[in-house]
Amino acid sequence: MTTSCIIRGLGHCVPENRLTNADLERMCDTNDEWITTRTGIKERRIASEGETTVSLSHQAALMALDNAGMKAEDLTHILVATFTPDAYIPSAACMLADRLGIKGRTCMDISAACSGFLFALETARAYVCLHPEAKILVTATDVVSSRVDYSDRSICVLFGDGAGAAIITGAGADFPNGSGRVLDVMLATDGSAHDLLTVKGGGSGSPVKPGGIVSRDFFVQMNGREVYKYAVRAMSSICREMLEKHGLTNDEVDVFIPHQANLRIIDAVGTRLEMPTEKIFTNVHKYGNTSAASVIIALSEARQEGVIKDGNLVLLSTFGGGFTWGSALVRF
Ligand code: ACO
Repeated sequence: MTTSCIIRGLGHCVPENRLTNADLERMCDTNDEWITTRTGIKERRIASEGETTVSLSHQAALMALDNAGMKAEDLTHILVATFTPDAYIPSAACMLADRLGIKGRTCMDISAACSGFLFALETARAYVCLHPEAKILVTATDVVSSRVDYSDRSICVLFGDGAGAAIITGAGADFPNGSGRVLDVMLATDGSAHDLLTVKGGGSGSPVKPGGIVSRDFFVQMNGREVYKYAVRAMSSICREMLEKHGLTNDEVDVFIPHQANLRIIDAVGTRLEMPTEKIFTNVHKYGNTSAASVIIALSEARQEGVIKDGNLVLLSTFGGGFTWGSALVRF
């Protein structure tokens, strides 16, 4: 059974604090030319003291609620996709509910690294099948800077912090102006690639000992070349599969929003899909890779800026550690 759900509101929030390529030149052995040609990233936003996954999610959630014309009390479920929760216990979702001043809801975190938003969206889609009256807040947020070693030039240039939010309801008879109908979500994983992109430190496989040192394991470790090749293959094939499943061609897609990891990956996926460049939305130059938040920030911005118009068909795609990847089709 294919059940659609509705995106009633979108929001996003990025920290004020900018980290430019010039700033990074002063922090480690890198340069603007290398970063720009390899990634297309010019700057990223970095959380300041007190800014966390929960606080950024809260700001994005308020924008999405306002956009949906709803109040926090209306919500029945909260899902937070993140690999950087404020704490191991409680979940970021429970803490977010508290910030929003609500209790008694179903709240949980979802771990799918950079693919987190689509995994959370699919979970929300399942919830509205079980509970057609559900009003679900999905946020996808990462403070990646909390897990980046700024002396590791191969990693620190790539990532930034941010949050995106969507309000999801069942596809009842009414379809308010400005809403998006989620037509389908496809997800995939390959756990055999777990070592190619990982943060191990602090997990039960690499436990922290009292007085122990914070090793490299506590920060993002990645085999960039292998990630690049796999990401391009996986995102292009799942997008192709999605279009074929729905009997669609590129011509019928109005806006394509791939995971904003770096411009070379985006260009390579676009080329494989033969997607015209003008249909591909990018904001990676100003935010870097914000992990789970990447596509939802882009979706919210593209809608807010009028890039996505009423009636447009939007194709989303993600890729992240796990490996995890996916695609979604949304009609606005
Ligand atoms: N500044 C300057 N030089 C650098 C930097 C840097 N920031 N980082 C690495 N280098 C050096 C390397 O040390 C190497 O030097 P060497 O030849 O003397 O050994 C040289 O640049 C080339 O390094 P490569 O790793 O071969 O560079 P490559 O062209 O593969 O680009 C990159 C690296 C950008 C990481 C690329 O592999 C990539 O885009 N991978 C995808 C990674 C990604 O985006 N991951 C995000 C998480 S997953 C996801 O969201 C999809």
